[in-house]
Amino acid sequence: MKTLFKNIKELIQVRTEPISFVAGKEMKVLPTIKEAYLLIKNGIIADFGSMDSIPPIEADRVIDASDKMILPTWCDSHTHIVYAGNREGEFVDRINGLTYEEIAKKGGGILNSAKILNETSEEELYNQSKKRLEEIMALGTGAVEIKSGYGLSYQGELKMLRVINKLKNNYPLEVKATFLGAHAIPFEFKNNKEGYLKMLVEDLMPVIAQENLAEYVDIFCETGYFTVEDTEFILKAGKKYGLKPKIHVNQFTAIGGVKIGVEYDALTVDHLEVMGQEDFEALKGTKTMPVALPACSFFLSIPYTPGRKMIDEGLPLALATDYNPGSTPSGNMNFVVSTACIKMKLTPEEAINAATINGAYALGLAKELGSITIGKKANIILTKPINSYGFIPYSFGENQIESVYLNGNKI
Ligand code: NIG
Ligand code: FE
Repeated sequence: MKTLFKNIKELIQVRTEPISFVAGKEMKVLPTIKEAYLLIKNGIIADFGSMDSIPPIEADRVIDASDKMILPTWCDSHTHIVYAGNREGEFVDRINGLTYEEIAKKGGGILNSAKILNETSEEELYNQSKKRLEEIMALGTGAVEIKSGYGLSYQGELKMLRVINKLKNNYPLEVKATFLGAHAIPFEFKNNKEGYLKMLVEDLMPVIAQENLAEYVDIFCETGYFTVEDTEFILKAGKKYGLKPKIHVNQFTAIGGVKIGVEYDALTVDHLEVMGQEDFEALKGTKTMPVALPACSFFLSIPYTPGRKMIDEGLPLALATDYNPGSTPSGNMNFVVSTACIKMKLTPEEAINAATINGAYALGLAKELGSITIGKKANIILTKPINSYGFIPYSFGENQIESVYLNGNKI
């Protein structure tokens, strides 16, 4: 099956040579071809170039993309979209003056979601979660990481991971599973954090590894949740079971999570709203990708990750949604890209790089996705007629997507 897009006004994020990510000044460069064509063969990018030099092509389907642009789908490397119910009540509590931390102390927050999830059947959890997956696909997401972490019990965590894997098997977008058992300390282990961590490592990790239920391991390294020592305990055990770290650090306080993540070769360190200079230094020259979640900052009214400073200091940056019921009930990467420009002062080029090629790296999918490169999966966004790609972040709250193609098929 061959699909040819022709007369594309601008083909965005074209990388002839495969790269794994862009950092610092390179993030300002977004290579494009104006008046382009793109050929997809059996779900894979087979060829592209300028219309001036288009070879004779026999395609099964020809799509005229005049006035429209094409870019790779968004790579959302941090979500919690498998959850049950919602937390609208806490939203109102926050409007009335309570903080996220105060709500959590009252037994709300993550523990509230865990209670609902443990009362929800696996089938119902799947049905609620698949709606969110379908919604983000329509918003241009072609690859997503999904975390466990609302089970907080042996059965609950396995239930979540099975649902994530079922979504992965049933949908055309790429799904990566992360084990986030250490998201909060459940009620039953209120005075026995060590016992809970031991259960995660001794009872759950072997089953997760055996059944291949997750590729990554995460922990909420934060004051009032898990310490740097707890983080080291989990990452060390994860390593034994082949689970690479992607961790929550520096959301409310900087307690040394970035450094420990880098030491354990974390693929990503995520959140980073509160950064000390030592955190910047810890990241420099490493393969650990910092991930910013500006929609979380927007929803909780907390500081934005200093993405501008990170890029100016030569670091790479990826953008993700953090879609979850407590801090970010939205999986809209278009909004994330806008917010990164508006609030974090990224240029459109930097934000698009952060949400595509760097997002693919943050998912462990840099070889398969994130750019228009021959041999990569044809997961692409066809825009509505627009004047420039800067219009994508500019028109915040809207999206400029006409259609989304995953593996070359229109969804
Ligand atoms: O990334 N901070 C930790 N975890 C989520 C929020 C979880 C929740 O409130 O349910 C986050 O923001
Ligand atoms: Fe998160």
